[in-house]
Amino acid sequence: MNQAMPARERARAPEHVHHARLIDWVAQIAALTEAADVYWCDGSDAEYQRLCQQLVDAGTFTRLNPAKRPNSFLACSDPSDVARVEDRTFICSQQRDDAGPTNNWMDPAEMRQLLQTGDKALFKGAMRGRTLYVIPFSMGPLGSPISHIGVELSDSPYVAVNMKLMTRMGRAVLDLLGRDGDFVPCVHSVGAPLQAGQADVNWPCNASTKYIVHYPETQEIWSYGSGYGGNALLGKKCFALRIASTMGREQGWLAEHMLILGVTNPEGRKFHVAAAFPSACGKTNFAMLIPPPALAGWKVTTIGDDIAWIKPGDDGRLYAINPEAGYFGVAPGTNAETNPNCMRSLERDVIFTNVALTDDGDVWWEGMGPAPAHAVDWQGRDWTPQIAAESGVKAAHPNARFTVAATNNPALDPAWDDAAGVPIDAFIFGGRRSTTVPLVTEARTWREGIYMAATMGSETTAAAVGQQGVVRRDPFAMLPFCGYNMSDYFRHWLDMEHKLQARSSSLPRIFCVNWFRKGADGKFVWPGYGDNARVLKWMVERVEGRAEGEGHFFGVSPRYADLDWTGLDFDEQRFASIIDADAAAWRAELALHDELLGKLAQRLPAEIRATRQAIEAALPN
Ligand code: OXD
Ligand code: MN
Repeated sequence: MNQAMPARERARAPEHVHHARLIDWVAQIAALTEAADVYWCDGSDAEYQRLCQQLVDAGTFTRLNPAKRPNSFLACSDPSDVARVEDRTFICSQQRDDAGPTNNWMDPAEMRQLLQTGDKALFKGAMRGRTLYVIPFSMGPLGSPISHIGVELSDSPYVAVNMKLMTRMGRAVLDLLGRDGDFVPCVHSVGAPLQAGQADVNWPCNASTKYIVHYPETQEIWSYGSGYGGNALLGKKCFALRIASTMGREQGWLAEHMLILGVTNPEGRKFHVAAAFPSACGKTNFAMLIPPPALAGWKVTTIGDDIAWIKPGDDGRLYAINPEAGYFGVAPGTNAETNPNCMRSLERDVIFTNVALTDDGDVWWEGMGPAPAHAVDWQGRDWTPQIAAESGVKAAHPNARFTVAATNNPALDPAWDDAAGVPIDAFIFGGRRSTTVPLVTEARTWREGIYMAATMGSETTAAAVGQQGVVRRDPFAMLPFCGYNMSDYFRHWLDMEHKLQARSSSLPRIFCVNWFRKGADGKFVWPGYGDNARVLKWMVERVEGRAEGEGHFFGVSPRYADLDWTGLDFDEQRFASIIDADAAAWRAELALHDELLGKLAQRLPAEIRATRQAIEAALPN
């Protein structure tokens, strides 16, 4: 593009855009990336339909059978691009110690050289032959004091349509930005420039080079080489967690990897709970839970399924919003028993990624229900149950996803889009642990709760590239998402106690749960899913001061008689096997905590070590 042209022309900015800084930046990125064209998304339904059709024509999307799955599409990615790439994710703060020992760090000047300014900078010419989509989005309800705005510049129309479902996206956001509003700039390229005449592939990406980069001090995001999920939909993990966590630390609020749900008891009293679990540990299922019929009168409604932004209100309570407007959930394992509300959400208007295509033009994944006699797997190969039995080949990738607007959810909470947020009564922290960690434990103090959250462990899943099923410490389920030093993050949470107590007498309660204990037969002992409502009931009754429990060395857990067993055949012995906190197992567990605490030693708050010592001292011999 001709540099002598005014920025507005170089940025191809429509008349209604009045934000000079935004226009200049778009012009600058268009020039750097040598994009063939620039398109400003308006976020309309007509635009969504047009872009989806364009993706069908390009071969990226397959339109599903409208009689079975109206207005829905399937995309299958390149096999090299199927999950978040944590080892290619960088926090480029000025000082290495500010990123801390749990993040990959590179000097920001060096990273800029590599991405933007060096002779062979990756973004130079990265969008050749492609259109740059300008995607303005609000994380959180439009205009809410808890919300923040971002603008993603991406050369992927797949990203543009996913952002339409996942965020409040388009013209209304530009209007809100006005002439000088603040926004977080997010630049994304699939890293696959096209030479003149070169045909495109269905899923352009860069198989060998990926960088997911955050500059916390200047609040910028640059992502190169991947078109998949959290690597590419930059409002989600990059902005709403990594950058927002640094904003929250500076401004006195919290950006967390948490679902938010409303739970209403039979008397009509409503509570709000925020729960942190590592990726692919059932947050979406928990957020959409339907209590069993025996718990008549209990109701769960969804505010969010993955991320919570939580700010202290003037009354000293914590108020939470879901910054997202849609769900990017794991498909395998989702079915009418595990998550009926989710299955109903997926009946229409969905983008599926990396699931299998059935012969009647619908989708299928492992754990959805009876397998079709034949399907095309996520890599485009013939798939039959026999092939699966012989070779173990999965029809859907284990990290296959659906993207769907929150408004499709029949259990959506009426306050999900409320600008004021909802007041949080309890925090839950949970991991996937086959042993050691009891079904539920309440922390006796804020500090004890912070310790539980800080030392949480979980067996790894397919949500990130890497070995699966190994226990890794995942503090607050934020290990891959905390945008600064994890020890400073613990400090931020610890300090919240005094800040809130100065204005309010009641802090949210903190609980730690584990739905995943296994028996000697290797099977899960706890039925989970809808029956998790029994644990939820105990927790909110603890908040009300109505339920009993028994204290032990690291908190309070229910005895058999303290849970509601109506309609469930689950005997006391089975319960004992998942609620027990075994002293020997906990000695070993504390040794594992020490590995994490040792790694974080440099800035570790003294309260964390003191709590660990107190637990050890309380262990029975
Ligand atoms: C997600 C994740 O996609 O945590 O939500 O990986
Ligand atoms: Mn997540």
